[in-house]
Amino acid sequence: AAPTRYEAENAAYVSGSTVDDNYAGYSGTGFVNTPNSAGSYVEFTVNAAGAGNAKLALRYANGTTADRPADIAVNGTVVKSGYSFPSTSTWSAWTTTTVSVPVNAGSNKIRLTATDSGGLANTDYLDF
Ligand code: GCU
Repeated sequence: AAPTRYEAENAAYVSGSTVDDNYAGYSGTGFVNTPNSAGSYVEFTVNAAGAGNAKLALRYANGTTADRPADIAVNGTVVKSGYSFPSTSTWSAWTTTTVSVPVNAGSNKIRLTATDSGGLANTDYLDF
């Protein structure tokens, strides 16, 4: 089946984040810009047809030269530690990174939590 798109601006995100639209190319009405600090997060609630490993496609932009790694947690358990969100060279250069994670049937909370002081990359959406 075609994936369902979950826009970051409709997700939960850490206090202090903003939904911005100043870099073109995003999907929906904007993207989430979290504070530049470790612990910044965006959390998507997604629906899985069945239990098992499922593919997440995360679209982001990172206009710095440094990685913006994040722990990826499913329902509160980190399943990918320090997952890399490398530079995309400019903030308008959006790219998609794909990762496979275990999910339950039904509702799942997928949280990206920044592990470095830069916070998260600008986050556009999750296709699930
Ligand atoms: C710049 C950029 C923001 C980005 C931020 C960051 O301020 O304009 O969109 O979120 O850098 O470093 O995260």
